[in-house]
Amino acid sequence: MLLEGKTVLLTGGARGLGAAIAQRMVLEGATVAITDILESEGKETAERIGDQAVFMPLNVTDEHAWTVVVDELLNRTGKIDVLVNNAAILHMGIIENTSSDQFRRLLEVNTTGPFLGMRTVVRPMKSAGSGSIINITSVDSLLPLNGLSGYIASKWALRGLSKSAALELGRDGIRVNCVCPVGGNDAMFSTWQPHLDQFGEEITAYGNCRGIQETVALEEMADAVVFLGSELSRKVTGIDLPVDGGHTAGTYLEAFNTQ
Ligand SMILES: NC(=O)c1ccc[n+]([C@@H]2O[C@H](COP(=O)([O-])OP(=O)(O)OC[C@H]3O[C@@H](n4cnc5c(N)ncnc54)[C@H](O)[C@@H]3O)[C@@H](O)[C@H]2O)c1
Repeated sequence: MLLEGKTVLLTGGARGLGAAIAQRMVLEGATVAITDILESEGKETAERIGDQAVFMPLNVTDEHAWTVVVDELLNRTGKIDVLVNNAAILHMGIIENTSSDQFRRLLEVNTTGPFLGMRTVVRPMKSAGSGSIINITSVDSLLPLNGLSGYIASKWALRGLSKSAALELGRDGIRVNCVCPVGGNDAMFSTWQPHLDQFGEEITAYGNCRGIQETVALEEMADAVVFLGSELSRKVTGIDLPVDGGHTAGTYLEAFNTQ
């Protein structure tokens, strides 16, 4: 039980990776506040996971709503040990086809949202003298792709924010790290799927360059979050932890592996 007795605040937990993180953290003994803008899905997810999960509505861009959720959680459990900033949106499109509103929206949800969350939990974490903040970025924040510049800018900014915060908050016992997943959940791509299907072979080739060929399961990504939320990582701060089957390690060429 790596997270026995810990209280976790998680964003974007109604579905996808967030729901897998919630499930995995509860299995390790944590109490998890699942937040999301998807209220009915969020409630269903919390009910499915059981008594140690509770749903609270939260739009991560709403500064006041962060205060409400953090105060409510502090009233329930008296502390917040771990914040997982997982909620994010995706926009695919070349720069010419991305409007300034779309670009700003990506930064608002994917970067300002986690910033607001960090700022709100820092006070109770400082009072407790400990805390772990885990920001979910992406392999794209280590190895960029074309045609995703707004999303990638938002995730690189989140990496930078995380490193600066790790330095700023380390003396208060608060750690700040990033988990960088490789693609693993199609729900985020659902709007773009028909478009992606046209490029099937190229996308398969992109996946084939990895060291480990099997798809990374959401539960395996959640394991990295458990590690960073637990005492096993008590001296780990300011890192990017890719869970990507070696995707960012370099390029695997089958032809070179036959000597
Ligand atoms: N899907 C992938 O292939 C992939 C790859 C690398 C990294 N990631 C990252 O993993 C994380 C989870 O993504 P996912 O694949 O589970 O996507 P998803 O779209 O299934 O889940 C994201 C969740 O965030 C919520 N959300 C969106 N905007 C919000 C807002 N303003 N306030 C609160 N909640 C909001 C959504 O309702 C949804 O439940 C994200 O940070 C994403 O960038 C995903």
